[in-house]
Amino acid sequence: MVKIVMLGAGGLAREMMDIYNEQGRLDDFEFLVEDNSRERKIVNEKRVFDTNILNEISETERPEYRLICPIGTPRRKKLIERCIDLHYQFDDLHHPNASISKWSNIGTGVIISANNIIKSQAEIGDYAILNMSCIVSHDAKVGKYSTISPFSGLMGFAEVGDECFLGAGVNIIPGVKVGKRCYIGAGSTVTKDIPDDTMAFGSPCKPIRTLSPEDWKELF
Ligand SMILES: CC(C)(COP(=O)(O)OP(=O)(O)OC[C@H]1O[C@@H](n2cnc3c(N)ncnc32)[C@H](O)[C@@H]1OP(=O)(O)O)[C@@H](O)C(=O)NCCC(=O)NCCS
Repeated sequence: MVKIVMLGAGGLAREMMDIYNEQGRLDDFEFLVEDNSRERKIVNEKRVFDTNILNEISETERPEYRLICPIGTPRRKKLIERCIDLHYQFDDLHHPNASISKWSNIGTGVIISANNIIKSQAEIGDYAILNMSCIVSHDAKVGKYSTISPFSGLMGFAEVGDECFLGAGVNIIPGVKVGKRCYIGAGSTVTKDIPDDTMAFGSPCKPIRTLSPEDWKELF
């Protein structure tokens, strides 16, 4: 039996615990971790430990664990890479009611929430998060470490690059590409390609400004 550990203990983590519950896997769920967690913190009946506990678990025990990372910010990538260096493996968390084409390609450690629809030849990159009720149509692509907020849709051949954040209710029309590390504001309809490192929003969606790593820290 594997032991599930969740990286992050915020709102998104609590939502994703619902998926383990609905999968009937709560008994496998061991604990959550977050940076500088205060002692005896409990989230949805499970203990929260400081992230450093992952270093303290012995190398021989680590293969028994499966990690999952519901942190909706770019901080996720560093933390996941650190855990891979520590030889932890990641879980795939797919809600039982998600409709996932057998001809789609879903990466490692991907989170797919309730009511998602992923169609033929769609690709979801490693450690991406698809929050509730999203559609990834045929041949569409979501890049690694990207976060897609509820009620968003990528139409056929649309693409979202690596490490992007799409706010709630974003729609990308067929064949349009969002670059890497873009932040697309809630409710946007993306009708033209968006370059890398850009914040864009509106309907039609327009680039507003470029984003540096420092800007990203301020956004969350
Ligand atoms: C894009 C975003 C980060 C901008 O935030 P911000 O920099 O604080 O922007 P402000 O709220 O100061 O708004 C600045 C202007 O842009 C407009 N604006 C902001 N977000 C917009 C959006 N998504 N679409 C259209 N216009 C938007 C505001 O109306 C305001 O216009 P005004 O100057 O004419 O009054 C934010 O509005 C957003 O969309 N966040 C997504 C949140 C989300 O969906 N999270 C998912 C949770 S699951």
